[in-house]
Amino acid sequence: MTALSSEIKIKGLTIKNRIVFPPVVCFHYAGDDGMVTDRNVEHYSLRAAGGAGLIIVEATAVMKEGRLAPFQLGIWSDDHIHGLNRISRAIKMQNAVAMIQLHHAGLLTPESVSPFAKAPSALEENPRSRGLTIQEIEHIRLSFIAGAIHAQKAGFDGVELHGAHGYLLNEFATSVLNKREDEYGGDLHKRLKLAREIIQGIRKHCGDGFLIGFRMGANSPLLEDGILIAKELEKYGVNILHVSHGGNLQNLPRTPKEFDFNWIVYSGITIKSQVNIPVIAVNEIKTPERAKWLIENDQVDFVALARPQLADPSWANHVLNDQPVNTCSSCKPKCRWYEDSNLCPAMKRLVS
Ligand SMILES: Cc1cc2nc3c(=O)[nH]c(=O)nc-3n(C[C@H](O)[C@H](O)[C@H](O)COP(=O)(O)O)c2cc1C
Repeated sequence: MTALSSEIKIKGLTIKNRIVFPPVVCFHYAGDDGMVTDRNVEHYSLRAAGGAGLIIVEATAVMKEGRLAPFQLGIWSDDHIHGLNRISRAIKMQNAVAMIQLHHAGLLTPESVSPFAKAPSALEENPRSRGLTIQEIEHIRLSFIAGAIHAQKAGFDGVELHGAHGYLLNEFATSVLNKREDEYGGDLHKRLKLAREIIQGIRKHCGDGFLIGFRMGANSPLLEDGILIAKELEKYGVNILHVSHGGNLQNLPRTPKEFDFNWIVYSGITIKSQVNIPVIAVNEIKTPERAKWLIENDQVDFVALARPQLADPSWANHVLNDQPVNTCSSCKPKCRWYEDSNLCPAMKRLVS
């Protein structure tokens, strides 16, 4: 039986337990220049001190014009390295492994960032969308690789490519959004060409010991496609798969009747059974008992809990020491952190 507290080695790096703090954009912490602020550093210091073995820093933009919002952290220039190093040091000081998520918003680039939303293909229903030229794809490829080089210089142990939630790399992978007729569209191998070239470029420049993770959309568009994508990514040399959703709510996989988790966790478990690299499951795992069950029954290698660790920065230590946690209030219609972390009722409880 594997315990939540068991360490695991990946590429020579020891991760002290199976709890991941997954990427969570801190809305309004950074400014339009994408520079790290004291608030960002404090946020990650606190979560790393809270005990998670692997911290994946929030979606960080590889290109200014591909951000998901004007306050997103950036990694598109050398100038970002110093601030990002403050975050990686804060994480590693707590003996946690530090990765950072590299991101381009693609079709989801808002007008406040760019007049156009660049994507594999233009969408009729989105007048701002533009299909990328080969030169622009080349620029994006180089920007992701440069982002990884900046991350390594900033002291991170690895990067996670954001290939989920309907953002650019997810759009390339899925046949529903990628209608290209050149070498970047068509069969799966072609649809994954950009991801493959980015992974190969990062490996070449950052070396064999640098972790490359991929957050994938399991339903891109179906779980059957997700399984094939996972197998391809393993072939390309990805070290950790983080299984989330593809930003598409049609044709969701059906979970078995007695299965107690949602379809995203089910997809993580299914993909884990099809690959030989570590897999992180995420989404509404919610409680210590459920997290333990997934690890103790060898369903996946890691559990990622986002909102529970926003609500209780010491969630991991509390769980590993059998202490009560400060429970997330599951705000509806969505988590208050999307608007302002000061509005989080669980955090308010903690400080009062
Ligand atoms: C405020 C907020 C910001 C998020 N930002 C990101 C992000 O930067 N990148 C990403 O891949 N997912 C992001 N997510 C999704 C989380 O990583 C996670 O997948 C999701 O919250 C489900 O996990 P949970 O049920 O444990 O919260 C965000 C979620 C929240 C609540």
